[in-house]
Amino acid sequence: MSAMTTIDLSVRIGGLTLRNPVMPASGTFAEGLDRVMDFNRLGAFVTKTITRELRSGNPLPRVVERPGSLINAIGIPSKGVAYFVEETLPYYAAYDTPLVVSISAPTADGFASLASELTLPGVAAIEANISCPNIEEDGKAFAMEAEATQKVTRELRKATKLPLWVKLTPNTGDMPDVARAAEAAGADAVVVANTILSMAIDLKSFKPCLGNIMGGLSGPAIKPIILRHVFQCAKAVRIPVIACGGISNSDDAVEYMLAGASAVQVGTATFVQPAAITTIIEGIEAFCVHREIARVADLTGGVVIEEADEPDLAWLNPPT
Ligand SMILES: Cc1cc2nc3c(=O)[nH]c(=O)nc-3n(C[C@H](O)[C@H](O)[C@H](O)COP(=O)(O)O)c2cc1C
Repeated sequence: MSAMTTIDLSVRIGGLTLRNPVMPASGTFAEGLDRVMDFNRLGAFVTKTITRELRSGNPLPRVVERPGSLINAIGIPSKGVAYFVEETLPYYAAYDTPLVVSISAPTADGFASLASELTLPGVAAIEANISCPNIEEDGKAFAMEAEATQKVTRELRKATKLPLWVKLTPNTGDMPDVARAAEAAGADAVVVANTILSMAIDLKSFKPCLGNIMGGLSGPAIKPIILRHVFQCAKAVRIPVIACGGISNSDDAVEYMLAGASAVQVGTATFVQPAAITTIIEGIEAFCVHREIARVADLTGGVVIEEADEPDLAWLNPPT
């Protein structure tokens, strides 16, 4: 077989076709990155999570580094939905790249009304960040429980015709169950996952390093954990799984696709190497050329598991 030079990098996420499977993770991308990369090369844009009201975020300090990782407790500082519609949306409209808008709200109705309001020309999909407290119930994040996930996803599904991505939390005990609930309620894709709840203590002052005490762990240290979640969730649902957690190079991205992801999001790596996303896109293409894989979508779920190695899925993924 002769070396391939043209690889089909496109992937389909529900009704949406992306030119390649790589996009930023919510909250880790900034407009100024246009100085280091061509935004028209990205698979999609994903915005920082927006809320209806102005929010100031958490007390300082908000970020601390740990080996191979970052712990953040930014909270969701937001300029509100009106600013987004007037300023942010027109900025991204100048690019030929689908815009995915990440939203959050404290109630299922709040999510639905935000999704409905943001169902606008120029918005390609809604990503519901449901790792936030559900104030109508017990204050736990919606994505901690299948029932709350199903309820908020159902309301979102009624509120918008746009493709609906639901971003899950790895802090729940049973992600496949929560992913199935999102699928059953009409999600077009699940994003696996948000950060892992964590903590750090300063040995000079004996105080927690973060103003919020606890924060979310991201970066290379979390990749093997999230890879396992992606593998399990991809087995549990038919809708696409978008992987997010610790990707810093194209090998990481390929690994996630082999585990079952249809696309990937890159977060913390952008803070280390601002052009990481485009380097990863080039690396995936080079990998496909080298391995003579004509379509990147063929990587999805390609992990080879011999029958004798089949994990005990009843244990890993208890039936509901
Ligand atoms: C500084 C920072 C801010 C973040 N803000 C958001 C956010 O607004 N909404 C959201 O859904 N996830 C947010 N995340 C989580 C990322 O989107 C991503 O799920 C997580 O960082 C794991 O990916 P990574 O290891 O590639 O960073 C944030 C992460 C970081 C580090």
